[in-house]
Amino acid sequence: MEAILSLFPFAQKYPFSKMTPMKIKTLAPEQVKNKVVLVRVDFNVPIKNGVVQDSTRILEALPTIKFLLKNGAKRVHLLAHLGRPKGEAKPEFSLRPVAAKLEELLKKLVEFRPDFTAGNGEVQLHENVRFDPREKKNDPAFAQEILENTGAEVFVNDGFGVSHRAHASVVGFAKKVPCLAGKLVQKEIEALSPFRSDQKMPGLSILAGGVKMETKVAVLRHFATTAENILLGGALGTTFLAAQGFDVGESLYEPEQFETAREILEIAKKNQTAIHLPVDVECADDPDGESVYVPIEDVTGSMKIFDIGPRTIASFREVLTHSQTVIWNGPMGFFEKQPFDNGTTDLARTLTKLSDVQTILGGGDTISAIAHANVPAAAFTHISTGGGAMLEFLEGKALPGIEVLK
Ligand code: 3PG
Repeated sequence: MEAILSLFPFAQKYPFSKMTPMKIKTLAPEQVKNKVVLVRVDFNVPIKNGVVQDSTRILEALPTIKFLLKNGAKRVHLLAHLGRPKGEAKPEFSLRPVAAKLEELLKKLVEFRPDFTAGNGEVQLHENVRFDPREKKNDPAFAQEILENTGAEVFVNDGFGVSHRAHASVVGFAKKVPCLAGKLVQKEIEALSPFRSDQKMPGLSILAGGVKMETKVAVLRHFATTAENILLGGALGTTFLAAQGFDVGESLYEPEQFETAREILEIAKKNQTAIHLPVDVECADDPDGESVYVPIEDVTGSMKIFDIGPRTIASFREVLTHSQTVIWNGPMGFFEKQPFDNGTTDLARTLTKLSDVQTILGGGDTISAIAHANVPAAAFTHISTGGGAMLEFLEGKALPGIEVLK
């Protein structure tokens, strides 16, 4: 069945809400009844001492698994990865703890399979697909072997967070069996699609931070054209400040991204997109030492920026409050360590209080930051399970795992 995804309510705020919706094949009861169904999920979750630390991605996979069971699927085989074990079976990357967590959340027996053969359980979670070197190479023989061993007749992609990877368990079943979008993939596409538009979106603010500017360049370029505001903190903000000639002392920043930062500032200027950078910061010589708030002009010597300062927090809050939609990816500072969590925690709490503002966030660090700030996930309009996948989708890139569902 081919579904034209409705463009969710956010879109109605914007003039481009009539843009062509994405056509993908979605789940329907008649396609799964009495069938063995293979489902790619994203269970790449933090695990410590054999215990799952954050179950968000597992919880988000439940609607699809429950739909399959309710509609008479013969067996549900779940495929997933954990970390980057580089094609070798390494016990610390085993999905066994995830099977235990899933069983608890699903309130149903989950059979853990150490390989890709079929057991008898109604729900079976297979070991980390990345233990096999053929997974990342998208080796067709690996996909074929999984299909034959499990007897799968239908493939469902519900791993939005891994849909930007052209790996065997994501794209390898295309043209071999019908490929459908799971409930989570469908929800993510509906929530994020409106922001792929290349038209100007009044009232759209992007709050971005964290490290690894390289992964965010394309999405920043995109929003430098379409958003009304871009607010930058974290090492990302520091790189932009340093690129403009500010002394940032010994702070974490990426000099190799200076050219790109200047280019993004230029694009923003041409498109009347305001880029907001920190005007004051919290610095220390090391994270365990004394910290001080200083105007950005006063950073020098061995000082390191660990958070945005109170004047910046107040001005960012003001911009967010007057936005229609805020998309947030990346913390404003070293939030894992007090007192450097102030900026991130304050803005996370601000976002949850803005009842008229649509709030969308994603990325592992951002999800950890809201847990740290103790704000309820339900207070946000949409929390994406994708990190890299969300950014690539927003920038307008075709994701291989979504393309196979068209
Ligand atoms: C993620 O955590 O973003 C996804 O699970 C993808 O993981 P990867 O970056 O190792 O492919």
